[in-house]
Amino acid sequence: MTTHTIIDGKTIAASITDKIARQTGDYIREIGSPPCLAVVLVGEDPASAVYVRNKSKMADKVGFKSIQKILPAETPEDDLIAIIKDLNNDPTIHGILVQLPLPGHINESKIIELIASEKDVDGFHPINVGRLGAAQLNKALIPCTPAGSVILTKSVHGDNLSGLHAVIIGRSNIVGKPVAQLLLNENCTVTIAHSRTKDLEDVARSADILVAAVGRPGMVKGDWIKPGASVIDVGINRVPAPEKGDGKSKLVGDVDFESASKVAGALTPVPGGVGPMTIALLMANTLTAARRQNGISV
Ligand code: GUN
Repeated sequence: MTTHTIIDGKTIAASITDKIARQTGDYIREIGSPPCLAVVLVGEDPASAVYVRNKSKMADKVGFKSIQKILPAETPEDDLIAIIKDLNNDPTIHGILVQLPLPGHINESKIIELIASEKDVDGFHPINVGRLGAAQLNKALIPCTPAGSVILTKSVHGDNLSGLHAVIIGRSNIVGKPVAQLLLNENCTVTIAHSRTKDLEDVARSADILVAAVGRPGMVKGDWIKPGASVIDVGINRVPAPEKGDGKSKLVGDVDFESASKVAGALTPVPGGVGPMTIALLMANTLTAARRQNGISV
């Protein structure tokens, strides 16, 4: 009989942030001041505001310094550029994160390319994208959600993912493409599927590891899943929840949890799966960036 494990991202993330808090203590004893993360938010998107708050809160909790730049939606692109240049040039700032999406009048890729690659704790700068693609993981900063997704996968399979068929549904720069690179680096056989994929359900059903990163609530049903497969649900979708009362909403993933949990060998919940891992890995990247900028090798 298949056992259906619910992967506890919250607990795994907490063990990572506990370790980072200890290592931050060592860092501060050596350098004399804490790593510092700057988080930039442009506009009032409520989901982005929550993410930014949670990122800064966790930075404080692990012992970093954190600064927030909250800018109005109408902020001219040139003003944002000036702020990022200041952060790049400030040696007391080790990590810079610009929350996406940015308002339509701002050129997102221009902003990402402007962030100093050694401070790019999101791992979105083309230099870090290239290093990941060239398997230079020791020099790169790796995108947080993909890195967290691989750790959750290893919590089920152990460190050796060699030969497993990983199917990723979604081809975004933030999740789909980098998680494919990471799993390829782990010697998985990797398929990137997307909205134009023919026979998507059949492709999904061939996966030992199925990563759903499309942003469509409940799209992946139980009958898309090979019995016993591991399913990593990256989706965070806010949907109406009239059962909780008038005007209420809730968060759901890209996977239909009810049907999937009967078929999958292991499955991440939403919330409490990949989400907390993203924040934990952001802390890991910030500490890594601070160490590298201070010539500390680990
Ligand atoms: N928006 C959605 N996910 C992310 C992320 O990982 N980093 C940033 N900066 N913005 C996001």
